[in-house]
Amino acid sequence: MKNVEILGTGRAIPSKVVTNDDLAKIVDTSDEWISTRTGIRQRYFCDENETADSLAIEAAKKAIEASGLSKDDIGVCICATLSGDYATPSMACMVQSTLQLREDIATFDVNAACSGFLYGIEIARGMLCCSGEKYALVIGCEQLSKLLDMNDRSTCVLFGDGAGAAVIGVTDDATYASTLGARGGQEILANGPGPDPSNIQMDGKAVFKFATSIIPKCIDELQKKSGFAVSDVSKVVCHQANERIIDFVIRRMKADPEKFYKNMDRYGNTSAASVPIALDELVRNGSIKDGDLLMMVGFGGGLTWAGALIRYAGKK
Ligand code: COA
Repeated sequence: MKNVEILGTGRAIPSKVVTNDDLAKIVDTSDEWISTRTGIRQRYFCDENETADSLAIEAAKKAIEASGLSKDDIGVCICATLSGDYATPSMACMVQSTLQLREDIATFDVNAACSGFLYGIEIARGMLCCSGEKYALVIGCEQLSKLLDMNDRSTCVLFGDGAGAAVIGVTDDATYASTLGARGGQEILANGPGPDPSNIQMDGKAVFKFATSIIPKCIDELQKKSGFAVSDVSKVVCHQANERIIDFVIRRMKADPEKFYKNMDRYGNTSAASVPIALDELVRNGSIKDGDLLMMVGFGGGLTWAGALIRYAGKK
Protein backbone atom coordinates (compact mmCIF):
# COMPACT_ATOMS: atom_id res chain seq x y z
CA MET A 1 0.00 0.00 0.00
CA LYS A 2 1.41 3.37 -0.98
CA ASN A 3 1.28 6.42 1.25
CA VAL A 4 0.90 10.13 0.65
CA GLU A 5 2.98 13.21 1.36
CA ILE A 6 2.21 16.93 1.24
CA LEU A 7 3.54 18.83 -1.78
CA GLY A 8 1.98 22.28 -1.46
CA THR A 9 -0.39 24.28 0.73
CA GLY A 10 -2.50 27.43 0.53
CA ARG A 11 -4.98 29.42 2.58
CA ALA A 12 -7.60 32.12 2.13
CA ILE A 13 -8.65 34.41 4.96
CA PRO A 14 -11.68 36.71 4.67
CA SER A 15 -11.15 40.46 4.90
CA LYS A 16 -13.39 41.38 7.85
CA VAL A 17 -11.59 41.21 11.23
CA VAL A 18 -13.92 40.83 14.21
CA THR A 19 -12.20 41.43 17.54
CA ASN A 20 -13.42 40.34 20.96
CA ASP A 21 -14.17 44.00 21.69
CA ASP A 22 -16.35 44.12 18.55
CA LEU A 23 -18.36 41.15 19.90
CA ALA A 24 -18.64 42.79 23.32
CA LYS A 25 -20.67 45.53 21.60
CA ILE A 26 -23.20 42.90 20.42
CA VAL A 27 -23.44 40.40 23.32
CA ASP A 28 -22.70 40.50 27.04
CA THR A 29 -19.07 39.36 26.90
CA SER A 30 -15.57 40.78 27.18
CA ASP A 31 -12.12 40.40 25.66
CA GLU A 32 -10.96 39.19 29.07
CA TRP A 33 -13.59 36.38 29.28
CA ILE A 34 -13.05 35.17 25.73
CA SER A 35 -9.26 35.31 25.70
CA THR A 36 -8.76 33.65 29.10
CA ARG A 37 -11.29 30.84 28.40
CA THR A 38 -10.32 30.17 24.78
CA GLY A 39 -7.14 32.01 23.72
CA ILE A 40 -9.16 33.66 20.93
CA ARG A 41 -8.59 37.39 20.41
CA GLN A 42 -10.11 37.90 16.98
CA ARG A 43 -11.59 35.98 14.07
CA TYR A 44 -12.39 36.74 10.42
CA PHE A 45 -15.89 36.81 8.93
CA CYS A 46 -16.68 36.92 5.20
CA ASP A 47 -17.81 40.33 3.96
CA GLU A 48 -20.58 40.78 1.39
CA ASN A 49 -18.20 39.97 -1.50
CA GLU A 50 -16.84 36.76 0.02
CA THR A 51 -18.40 33.28 0.29
CA ALA A 52 -17.32 29.81 1.32
CA ASP A 53 -16.79 29.02 -2.38
CA SER A 54 -14.59 32.05 -3.01
CA LEU A 55 -12.37 31.13 -0.05
CA ALA A 56 -12.09 27.47 -1.10
CA ILE A 57 -11.16 28.47 -4.65
CA GLU A 58 -8.45 30.90 -3.51
CA ALA A 59 -6.90 28.42 -1.07
CA ALA A 60 -6.98 25.62 -3.67
CA LYS A 61 -5.36 27.80 -6.34
CA LYS A 62 -2.52 28.73 -3.97
CA ALA A 63 -1.97 25.08 -2.96
CA ILE A 64 -1.71 23.94 -6.59
CA GLU A 65 0.72 26.79 -7.36
CA ALA A 66 2.82 25.92 -4.30
CA SER A 67 2.97 22.23 -5.27
CA GLY A 68 4.65 23.03 -8.59
CA LEU A 69 2.07 20.88 -10.38
CA SER A 70 -0.40 21.79 -13.08
CA LYS A 71 -4.17 21.78 -12.52
CA ASP A 72 -4.32 18.83 -14.95
CA ASP A 73 -2.21 16.72 -12.57
CA ILE A 74 -4.96 16.77 -9.93
CA GLY A 75 -6.64 13.35 -9.91
CA VAL A 76 -9.06 13.77 -6.97
CA CYS A 77 -10.70 16.93 -5.57
CA ILE A 78 -12.19 16.81 -2.07
CA CYS A 79 -13.52 19.67 0.03
CA ALA A 80 -14.19 19.19 3.74
CA THR A 81 -16.95 21.49 4.99
CA LEU A 82 -20.18 21.75 6.96
CA SER A 83 -21.03 25.23 5.71
CA GLY A 84 -20.94 25.12 1.92
CA ASP A 85 -22.85 27.73 -0.05
CA TYR A 86 -25.21 25.09 -1.44
CA ALA A 87 -26.18 21.49 -0.65
CA THR A 88 -25.44 21.04 -4.34
CA PRO A 89 -23.29 21.90 -6.24
CA SER A 90 -20.66 20.87 -3.75
CA MET A 91 -17.83 23.22 -2.93
CA ALA A 92 -15.43 20.76 -4.56
CA CYS A 93 -17.45 21.09 -7.81
CA MET A 94 -17.28 24.89 -7.59
CA VAL A 95 -13.51 24.66 -7.18
CA GLN A 96 -13.26 22.22 -10.08
CA SER A 97 -15.23 24.43 -12.46
CA THR A 98 -13.56 27.70 -11.47
CA LEU A 99 -10.01 26.32 -11.58
CA GLN A 100 -10.87 24.20 -14.62
CA LEU A 101 -9.67 20.96 -13.10
CA ARG A 102 -10.16 17.84 -15.23
CA GLU A 103 -13.68 16.43 -15.58
CA ASP A 104 -12.64 12.78 -15.27
CA ILE A 105 -11.80 13.00 -11.57
CA ALA A 106 -13.80 12.29 -8.39
CA THR A 107 -14.97 15.66 -7.02
CA PHE A 108 -17.02 15.82 -3.82
CA ASP A 109 -17.46 17.29 -0.33
CA VAL A 110 -16.89 15.50 2.96
CA ASN A 111 -18.57 16.45 6.23
CA ALA A 112 -16.68 15.32 9.29
CA ALA A 113 -16.82 18.79 10.91
CA CYS A 114 -13.49 19.82 12.44
CA SER A 115 -11.89 16.47 11.53
CA GLY A 116 -12.94 16.88 7.89
CA PHE A 117 -9.62 17.92 6.36
CA LEU A 118 -7.88 14.83 7.77
CA TYR A 119 -10.79 12.59 6.77
CA GLY A 120 -10.33 14.13 3.28
CA ILE A 121 -6.62 13.31 3.20
CA GLU A 122 -7.26 9.70 4.19
CA ILE A 123 -10.07 9.30 1.63
CA ALA A 124 -7.84 10.84 -1.06
CA ARG A 125 -4.99 8.50 -0.08
CA GLY A 126 -7.30 5.49 -0.52
CA MET A 127 -8.50 6.75 -3.88
CA LEU A 128 -5.01 7.57 -5.15
CA CYS A 129 -3.60 4.25 -4.04
CA CYS A 130 -6.38 2.33 -5.87
CA SER A 131 -6.09 4.30 -9.11
CA GLY A 132 -3.43 5.40 -11.52
CA GLU A 133 -3.73 8.99 -10.26
CA LYS A 134 -0.80 10.50 -8.37
CA TYR A 135 -2.07 13.75 -6.88
CA ALA A 136 -5.09 14.98 -4.95
CA LEU A 137 -6.35 18.39 -3.88
CA VAL A 138 -7.83 18.43 -0.37
CA ILE A 139 -9.48 21.59 0.94
CA GLY A 140 -10.99 22.52 4.31
CA CYS A 141 -13.29 25.52 4.11
CA GLU A 142 -15.94 27.08 6.36
CA GLN A 143 -18.15 30.13 6.49
CA LEU A 144 -19.37 29.51 10.04
CA SER A 145 -20.43 33.13 10.52
CA LYS A 146 -23.63 32.35 8.65
CA LEU A 147 -24.46 29.58 11.16
CA LEU A 148 -23.93 31.70 14.28
CA ASP A 149 -26.61 33.09 16.56
CA MET A 150 -25.06 36.47 17.31
CA ASN A 151 -27.24 36.70 20.45
CA ASP A 152 -25.74 33.53 21.95
CA ARG A 153 -22.55 34.54 23.72
CA SER A 154 -21.66 30.94 24.54
CA THR A 155 -21.10 30.07 20.85
CA CYS A 156 -20.79 33.23 18.72
CA VAL A 157 -17.43 34.16 20.26
CA LEU A 158 -15.79 30.85 19.32
CA PHE A 159 -15.97 30.52 15.54
CA GLY A 160 -14.60 32.15 12.38
CA ASP A 161 -14.44 31.79 8.59
CA GLY A 162 -11.52 30.68 6.41
CA ALA A 163 -10.07 28.07 4.08
CA GLY A 164 -6.93 26.00 3.79
CA ALA A 165 -5.84 23.47 1.17
CA ALA A 166 -3.11 20.98 0.39
CA VAL A 167 -1.97 19.06 -2.66
CA ILE A 168 -0.87 15.57 -1.69
CA GLY A 169 0.94 13.02 -3.80
CA VAL A 170 1.57 9.27 -3.59
CA THR A 171 4.92 8.14 -2.25
CA ASP A 172 6.69 4.89 -1.36
CA ASP A 173 7.89 6.55 1.86
CA ALA A 174 6.82 4.24 4.69
CA THR A 175 6.64 7.01 7.29
CA TYR A 176 2.91 7.61 7.22
CA ALA A 177 0.16 6.73 9.67
CA SER A 178 -3.45 7.71 10.14
CA THR A 179 -6.30 7.17 12.53
CA LEU A 180 -9.99 8.03 12.08
CA GLY A 181 -12.95 7.61 14.39
CA ALA A 182 -16.44 8.69 15.39
CA ARG A 183 -18.82 8.43 18.32
CA GLY A 184 -22.17 9.71 17.09
CA GLY A 185 -23.75 12.27 19.40
CA GLN A 186 -25.35 15.70 19.45
CA GLU A 187 -22.83 17.59 21.59
CA ILE A 188 -22.29 19.98 18.65
CA LEU A 189 -25.31 20.69 16.43
CA ALA A 190 -25.62 22.81 13.29
CA ASN A 191 -28.59 22.95 10.92
CA GLY A 192 -30.43 20.79 13.44
CA PRO A 193 -33.58 21.07 15.49
CA GLY A 194 -33.92 24.00 17.91
CA PRO A 195 -35.30 27.50 18.06
CA ASP A 196 -33.30 28.51 14.99
CA PRO A 197 -32.38 25.40 12.98
CA SER A 198 -29.41 27.03 11.26
CA ASN A 199 -27.49 27.94 14.41
CA ILE A 200 -24.54 26.17 15.96
CA GLN A 201 -25.41 24.84 19.41
CA MET A 202 -22.87 23.20 21.68
CA ASP A 203 -22.41 21.53 25.04
CA GLY A 204 -19.09 23.26 25.74
CA LYS A 205 -18.12 21.27 28.81
CA ALA A 206 -18.81 17.88 27.17
CA VAL A 207 -16.81 18.92 24.10
CA PHE A 208 -13.90 20.09 26.25
CA LYS A 209 -13.81 16.72 28.03
CA PHE A 210 -14.03 14.83 24.74
CA ALA A 211 -11.29 16.90 23.08
CA THR A 212 -8.79 16.59 25.92
CA SER A 213 -9.12 12.80 25.93
CA ILE A 214 -9.23 12.20 22.17
CA ILE A 215 -6.13 14.25 21.19
CA PRO A 216 -3.72 12.15 23.33
CA LYS A 217 -5.47 8.99 22.05
CA CYS A 218 -4.89 10.03 18.41
CA ILE A 219 -1.26 10.92 19.10
CA ASP A 220 -0.69 7.59 20.89
CA GLU A 221 -2.19 5.68 17.97
CA LEU A 222 -0.06 7.55 15.43
CA GLN A 223 3.00 6.75 17.52
CA LYS A 224 2.11 3.05 17.79
CA LYS A 225 1.43 2.78 14.05
CA SER A 226 4.44 4.77 12.82
CA GLY A 227 7.04 4.43 15.56
CA PHE A 228 7.40 8.24 15.61
CA ALA A 229 6.71 10.24 18.77
CA VAL A 230 5.91 13.93 19.25
CA SER A 231 9.63 14.50 19.87
CA ASP A 232 10.42 13.14 16.36
CA VAL A 233 8.17 15.51 14.41
CA SER A 234 8.72 19.17 13.58
CA LYS A 235 5.26 20.27 14.64
CA VAL A 236 1.97 18.95 15.97
CA VAL A 237 -0.91 20.74 14.28
CA CYS A 238 -4.08 20.27 16.32
CA HIS A 239 -7.50 21.62 15.45
CA GLN A 240 -7.49 25.18 16.79
CA ALA A 241 -10.68 25.11 18.86
CA ASN A 242 -9.38 26.44 22.12
CA GLU A 243 -5.98 27.20 23.65
CA ARG A 244 -6.94 25.62 26.96
CA ILE A 245 -7.66 22.29 25.24
CA ILE A 246 -4.18 22.22 23.67
CA ASP A 247 -2.45 23.37 26.89
CA PHE A 248 -4.31 20.70 28.88
CA VAL A 249 -3.08 18.04 26.42
CA ILE A 250 0.52 19.31 26.56
CA ARG A 251 0.49 19.11 30.37
CA ARG A 252 -1.15 15.69 30.42
CA MET A 253 1.30 14.27 27.87
CA LYS A 254 4.27 16.11 29.41
CA ALA A 255 5.05 17.17 25.84
CA ASP A 256 7.25 20.02 24.61
CA PRO A 257 4.90 23.02 24.23
CA GLU A 258 7.07 24.32 21.36
CA LYS A 259 5.92 21.41 19.20
CA PHE A 260 2.24 22.38 19.39
CA TYR A 261 1.30 25.18 17.02
CA LYS A 262 -1.40 27.63 18.07
CA ASN A 263 -3.05 30.34 15.99
CA MET A 264 -6.59 30.44 17.40
CA ASP A 265 -5.78 33.89 18.82
CA ARG A 266 -6.11 35.25 15.26
CA TYR A 267 -8.68 32.96 13.60
CA GLY A 268 -10.90 31.41 16.29
CA ASN A 269 -12.28 27.97 15.51
CA THR A 270 -12.65 27.56 11.74
CA SER A 271 -13.69 23.89 11.90
CA ALA A 272 -12.52 21.98 8.79
CA ALA A 273 -10.33 24.93 7.75
CA SER A 274 -8.44 25.11 11.01
CA VAL A 275 -5.79 22.40 10.46
CA PRO A 276 -4.95 23.34 6.83
CA ILE A 277 -4.77 27.09 7.67
CA ALA A 278 -2.29 26.32 10.47
CA LEU A 279 -0.37 23.96 8.18
CA ASP A 280 -0.06 26.63 5.48
CA GLU A 281 1.11 29.24 8.00
CA LEU A 282 3.84 26.90 9.23
CA VAL A 283 4.99 26.08 5.71
CA ARG A 284 5.03 29.70 4.57
CA ASN A 285 6.76 31.03 7.70
CA GLY A 286 9.52 28.40 7.33
CA SER A 287 8.67 26.41 10.50
CA ILE A 288 8.02 23.31 8.39
CA LYS A 289 10.72 22.58 5.82
CA ASP A 290 10.93 20.12 2.94
CA GLY A 291 11.27 16.59 4.31
CA ASP A 292 9.90 17.41 7.79
CA LEU A 293 7.50 15.05 9.54
CA LEU A 294 4.40 16.42 11.21
CA MET A 295 1.44 15.19 13.18
CA MET A 296 -2.01 16.61 12.59
CA VAL A 297 -5.02 15.99 14.84
CA GLY A 298 -8.63 16.98 14.22
CA PHE A 299 -11.62 16.56 16.55
CA GLY A 300 -15.10 17.96 16.78
CA GLY A 301 -18.68 17.70 15.60
CA GLY A 302 -20.08 14.25 14.97
CA LEU A 303 -18.36 13.55 17.27
CA THR A 304 -15.42 12.74 15.03
CA TRP A 305 -11.65 12.59 15.32
CA ALA A 306 -8.72 12.05 12.98
CA GLY A 307 -4.95 12.01 13.09
CA ALA A 308 -2.21 11.83 10.49
CA LEU A 309 1.54 11.46 10.65
CA ILE A 310 2.74 12.71 7.30
CA ARG A 311 5.80 14.14 5.59
CA TYR A 312 5.90 17.62 4.08
CA ALA A 313 7.88 16.85 0.93
CA GLY A 314 7.58 20.31 -0.66
CA LYS A 315 7.28 21.37 -4.28
CA LYS A 316 7.51 18.74 -7.04
N1 COA B 1 -18.79 35.85 27.75
C1 COA B 1 -19.03 35.96 29.07
N2 COA B 1 -19.59 34.99 29.78
C2 COA B 1 -19.92 33.85 29.14
C3 COA B 1 -19.69 33.67 27.77
C4 COA B 1 -19.10 34.73 27.07
N3 COA B 1 -18.82 34.67 25.75
N4 COA B 1 -20.11 32.44 27.41
C5 COA B 1 -20.60 31.85 28.51
N5 COA B 1 -20.48 32.71 29.55
C6 COA B 1 -20.87 32.51 30.95
C7 COA B 1 -21.92 31.45 31.10
O1 COA B 1 -23.21 32.01 30.89
C8 COA B 1 -21.71 31.03 32.54
O2 COA B 1 -22.33 31.97 33.37
P1 COA B 1 -23.10 31.51 34.71
O3 COA B 1 -22.05 30.85 35.55
O4 COA B 1 -23.59 32.78 35.25
O5 COA B 1 -24.15 30.55 34.25
C9 COA B 1 -20.20 31.19 32.74
O6 COA B 1 -19.74 32.04 31.67
C10 COA B 1 -19.45 29.89 32.69
O7 COA B 1 -19.87 29.19 31.56
P2 COA B 1 -19.32 27.78 31.29
O8 COA B 1 -20.06 27.22 30.14
O9 COA B 1 -19.26 27.01 32.58
O10 COA B 1 -17.83 28.14 30.86
P3 COA B 1 -16.66 27.14 30.61
O11 COA B 1 -15.60 27.36 31.62
O12 COA B 1 -17.12 25.73 30.36
O13 COA B 1 -16.10 27.69 29.21
C11 COA B 1 -16.16 27.17 26.91
C12 COA B 1 -16.94 27.67 28.09
C13 COA B 1 -17.08 27.11 25.70
C14 COA B 1 -15.04 28.15 26.62
C15 COA B 1 -15.57 25.78 27.24
O14 COA B 1 -16.60 24.94 27.71
C16 COA B 1 -14.89 25.16 26.10
O15 COA B 1 -13.84 25.60 25.69
N6 COA B 1 -15.45 24.07 25.52
C17 COA B 1 -14.95 23.47 24.32
C18 COA B 1 -15.58 24.19 23.18
C19 COA B 1 -14.94 23.89 21.87
O16 COA B 1 -13.77 24.09 21.72
N7 COA B 1 -15.75 23.44 20.92
C20 COA B 1 -15.38 23.20 19.60
C21 COA B 1 -14.69 21.90 19.49
S1 COA B 1 -14.55 21.47 17.83
